[in-house]
This record gives sequence, structure tokens and C-alpha cells, in this order.
Amino acid sequence: MAQPPGIHARRAALKLLDAVLRRGETLEQAEGAALREVRKTPDKALARAIASEALRWLVDLDGLIDTATKQRLPDDAKPRMVLRLMLAQALQLNTPPHAVIATCLPLLSGGPRRLAHGVFSTLMKQSAALPDAPTLPGRVIARWGELAQSIARGLAEPPEVDLALKHPSATSQQAVALEAVSLMPGHARVPRGTAIENLPGFSEGDWWVQDIAAQLPAKLLGAGEGRHALDLCAAPGGKTLSLASAGWAVTALDISKRRLGLLKDNLKRTGLTASPVRADALSWEPKHLFDAILLDAPCTATGTCRRHPDVLHRIGERQIAEMVDLQRTLMQRAVEWLKPGGSLIYAVCSLEREEGEDQAAWITREFALRSAPVAEDELPVGLAPTAEGWVRTHPGMLPDQGGLDGFFIARWVAA
Ligand SMILES: C[S@@+](CC[C@H](N)C(=O)[O-])C[C@H]1O[C@@H](n2cnc3c(N)ncnc32)[C@H](O)[C@@H]1O
Repeated sequence: MAQPPGIHARRAALKLLDAVLRRGETLEQAEGAALREVRKTPDKALARAIASEALRWLVDLDGLIDTATKQRLPDDAKPRMVLRLMLAQALQLNTPPHAVIATCLPLLSGGPRRLAHGVFSTLMKQSAALPDAPTLPGRVIARWGELAQSIARGLAEPPEVDLALKHPSATSQQAVALEAVSLMPGHARVPRGTAIENLPGFSEGDWWVQDIAAQLPAKLLGAGEGRHALDLCAAPGGKTLSLASAGWAVTALDISKRRLGLLKDNLKRTGLTASPVRADALSWEPKHLFDAILLDAPCTATGTCRRHPDVLHRIGERQIAEMVDLQRTLMQRAVEWLKPGGSLIYAVCSLEREEGEDQAAWITREFALRSAPVAEDELPVGLAPTAEGWVRTHPGMLPDQGGLDGFFIARWVAA
């Protein structure tokens, strides 16, 4: 029997959802296998969008499904997985219900198919709707405490697209050319869905895609004036590019061959220079000390939940504890490689205290480093440093400008 167009994308979305929720994979890890049989780029994007919206709104979608079933469907039952995808399309992606039915029901057969059809039709007849902001899973609310509500509001929509500009001195002119809004020198924001490759300056490498929060760690090291910086855990290289464009001679180290390949591609496209090194930071030894070190440490990445809503469902205490240990070991090595008077930045795209505030307090206690508090005028208007002089961002901040990713950043100077 001929399959309706669009079913490949739905089958791939189901594989993505299954890989995240049942196997604990990241969306990025799951994409290789899940999207293999999807040929067209728009279909790949559709599969990603459906799975992402199902993950963003999972608690609310499950709540709706439960109101329309007599017996609660198990969390990993296939009809529940398919219903999550169906409702995400109808309620969040504005897909007409008949198109949802035609493309998703073929993913099931027999009793489960009749069940999914019945539940979906009932909810559509009742004009089921989603709330203004997604309901977060209970354990996430417990971790984020009083920030949870504000973060949830910032999560309601996928984010706009931020660009980091190679020449911050030309920000105003470039913002006009890009029809973008700029929230600080070197930054430009364009609406989501913009065809990035068609924007002026793409092929010339005048900018690269990077959330405004991710632009801050390199910015807080200031101008390099030819001095040596180590970007430890550098790939795919967003911060390496910022450091290189600010005049640092950058050694960009990462353990991942694939990600370091992306870093090299980024250098080539932008015409910026850095020295990529593929090595394990836990065993590598530098040939000289550095004037500045940026440790953008591996982390749970919960701060990127707007773009990667899988983190809402995959990350628990075990993953956080593993990252905390790795971050401390990396920091113990990094401090050995700083010149006296050299600057150190520790950054993570995590919303977890254990990886951010607690780590900064530990670093301050543990090493011969002097805190170098961040000043308010180093940050975009609307953000302020913490009482300790650290930077904490989360998706609920700058709500009128479209929000930003969650980051924690702190700065020290070697004694
Ligand atoms: C948060 S990401 C870095 C993002 C990057 N700084 C940027 O701005 O594009 C963390 C990186 O740490 C790398 N990494 C993890 N463990 C490492 C290790 N032991 N040695 C070197 N790099 C490592 C990962 O491959 C990953 O690319």
C-alpha cells in the first residue's frame, strides 16, 4: 500500500522520541540513526521539530492523553509515544488534524491504532489546548526551585537565532544589513526560521551562530593584543572564534575529532586563525604557560533546554555528579597552566547549581586565584552580575528581547 507523503518524517520523529525517553540519548546523538532514511532536508527539519515540541510539552501532552484514556497508558507504550507526536503537531505546530491522522496512524496497527485514533479525535473535539508555558517535570522543578516558573515561560517557544559578529566595532551597520536587533556590541539577533545561509556576510564569514549567553565567556577576557589564550574544551569553536577575533593567539584543544573538524571548518569560513589541538585535557601537557585560559567545561547542558528540550527528561542527579567530578579534574589541570597574573574563565551552559555556583565557590577556596568580579557594564543591558561578581543567565531572563540560554560564568586572576 502506498504511504502518505510525510510519513518518513513522522517515523523518524518517533525514533528520536524513543531514543531520548527510553535510551537516555541526546537528540543530537539520536539523529544519526533516526534520520538516516529521511532523504529531504525539510523532512529532517520536520522530524526534529516534532520530536522537540513533544519533549518541550511532554508533561502537558501526557496530561491531555490521560484525560482521554480509561486506563493509564504506560510511559513508554507505543500508542502514547505516537499520541505525543500527534498532539505536538496539532497543538504546537499547527498541522491540520486530518494530516496528523493520515501521517501518524500508519505508525501503529490493530488495537493501538484504534486507541490512538479515538484519543486524538476526542481531544480534538474537545478543543484541547496547551497552557501558556510548558509544565516542567517534577524533578526539574525541584532542582530549579523559584526560577522554574520563569524558565518555563522562557521555554514556551524555540529561541530566535543569535549571531556573533567578527567585527564588533561594525555592529550597528551589520545589524541594519542583517535586519537584526543587537543586544550588545558584537551581537545580532534574527527571527527563528531565518534562512541563515542567505543572510549577508555568510559566505564571507562575517559572523557565526552563537547564543548571546555563549558569547559572554570569551568577551569577559577582553582584547588579546597577541597574547596566548588556551580554549580548553573548544569545539565546535564558537568561543575560539570570538577569542581569535579579539586578538588572542588561541590554542583550541578538544578531545573529539568530529567536533574539532567543525572547529577547523569554522576557522576556514571566517578566515580567523587559531591552533587546533586534538588531545585529552586530562593527559595533555602544554609547551608553555598561558596569559588566559577559558574552560568551557563539558556539562549537562540544561541551559540549552530551549533548543534541546531532551535535557528536561534525561538529566538527573547521576549525570550532574559525573559532570561535577570531570569539571573539577579539568580545573585542577587548567590552573597549573596559567602565567602569574593570567586570567581564568570557568563557564558551563548548565542551570544546575552544582555545576555553576557551587563549583565557583569550590574553585575560589581550592586554588591560589583571586576573584575578578564581572561588572554590570560588561554585560548586555538588562543583565547584572551576582553579589559574588559571577554571571548567571537563564531562559526566563530578557523576556521582552526573546530570552537567552542558561549559562554560569566566573572569572579569576592567577596570584
Ligand atoms: C561545552 S562543549 C564546548 C563548546 C565550545 N567551547 C564552543 O564554544 O563551541 C565541551 C567540549 O568538551 C570536550 N571535552 C570533553 N572532555 C574532554 C577532555 N577530557 N579533553 C578535551 N576536551 C574534552 C567535548 O568534546 C566538547 O566539545
